[in-house]
Amino acid sequence: MRKGRFITFEGIDGCGKSTQIGIAQKFLNDMGYETMIVREPGGTVVGEKIRTILLDKKNDSMVSMTELLLYEAARAQIVEEKIIPALEAGTMVICDRFYDSTAAYQGYARGLGTELVETLNDIAAKDCSPDITFLLDLTPRQALERRKARGEDEDRLEAMGTSFQEKVRDGYLLWAKSHPRIRTIDASVSVEQIGDEVISCLSAIL
Ligand code: TMP
Repeated sequence: MRKGRFITFEGIDGCGKSTQIGIAQKFLNDMGYETMIVREPGGTVVGEKIRTILLDKKNDSMVSMTELLLYEAARAQIVEEKIIPALEAGTMVICDRFYDSTAAYQGYARGLGTELVETLNDIAAKDCSPDITFLLDLTPRQALERRKARGEDEDRLEAMGTSFQEKVRDGYLLWAKSHPRIRTIDASVSVEQIGDEVISCLSAIL
């Protein structure tokens, strides 16, 4: 039986997920809940190896279907090994990206279609659907400026450029319209304002 809540954060690269995940975790801990933060792809020994393959810029010959299946493989591993046991133990699980990323990046931006992605998402995630998902919405230009300010190296997906990120963003916004668990938040406002909105939505599901 699932006793914890499953909370996911989504958005294009550089949208500010990490900061908001920290705010959400602090809020939940202050409320007395156990929390676990995981990330996708990754979060397990096997998943981190898959992540290295996926994000390595040298793997520029990777076809979209391989990319999709690797993301789903990493997901199957983390769902069974980490997420389900934690939720059953009553832990609040906060996941930095989950299957909505696959809808936006592979389904829409890579053009593989959301029907196929949804089928594979269901197989990999079993019945493990998020209770709430925060989509931090930012323009690719703003996100790029933030990434530059942090001085981070680009990974294989980030190196696809702004027009790819634009497709990802459009995909997310369209996807969110048909999934009421997704709360779209304007991520161009201050960290505090976004944090307040995240906390108020979390309070409503506890
Ligand atoms: P991160 O940099 O936020 O950790 O995410 C790694 C990259 O993987 C990011 O560019 C988004 C991408 N991604 C997908 O394309 N599909 C997916 O299903 C997931 C989880 C991430």
